[in-house]
Amino acid sequence: MEKTVTVNTLLKMKREAKKIVMLTAYDFPFAKILDETGVDIVLVGDSLGMVVQGGKTTLSVTMDEMIYHTRMVAKATQRAMVVGDMPFMSYQVSVQDAIYNAGRFLKEAGAAMVKLEGGATVCNTIEAISRADIPVMAHIGLTPQSVHKMGGYRIQREEERLLEDAKRVASAGASAVVLECIPSSIAQKITESVEIPTIGIGAGVHCDGQVLVLHDLLGLYDRRVPRFVKRYADLGRMAREAILRYGEEVRGGIFPSSEQSF
Ligand code: KIV
Repeated sequence: MEKTVTVNTLLKMKREAKKIVMLTAYDFPFAKILDETGVDIVLVGDSLGMVVQGGKTTLSVTMDEMIYHTRMVAKATQRAMVVGDMPFMSYQVSVQDAIYNAGRFLKEAGAAMVKLEGGATVCNTIEAISRADIPVMAHIGLTPQSVHKMGGYRIQREEERLLEDAKRVASAGASAVVLECIPSSIAQKITESVEIPTIGIGAGVHCDGQVLVLHDLLGLYDRRVPRFVKRYADLGRMAREAILRYGEEVRGGIFPSSEQSF
């Protein structure tokens, strides 16, 4: 069996210029497919609030919901690293809360790392969580939990601030950093200036790895599809067609046939 992906694997991949493949998952069946197809990191993202729970933002997701979904994902993975996304208000109120909630992802759900949003302003929190031996993935650029403060989901272009954020989270002890929705020239500079791996989403090809929301990639979510998404399949259409056929066959007395009967 292949070795499990660890923080050391990720650092080695960056040093050897091997791209890191990361995707989100929220349940056992999809997490199993991701693990079996060699995805390196499975993120149980708080995008859960939109693509699974149908919310307009990610803000309503709770710690208990994240633990519930992360547990299902962790049960399905053997090689991939499972990262639990810290939901809104699980790390902003106090550093104690942040350490406690980060610990829950490892202790109760089987994650190996947690992710939280923010740059320089959350460095104390990143430091405290990693001092408790919990690996942290930072997330800078467009941070969806700040949607109301940012006035919408907008591309982030302030080069100096982004570079400073990346350097600060790295020196605070982050083991990797997500760069969301920033120009690829800035993402390239960040990737070259920090020793930890950068994982891009809408941040161009120069990052050390890439992440997408699984439901965007598979065509299972069409309420808000950002320009950086590439749709590799249309499972939504396939599911509708299959369910329509099932309905027709039930109504027409075709299903179940003798093959499915005892
Ligand atoms: O919640 C999420 O899925 C994320 C990724 C898009 C990086 O934060």
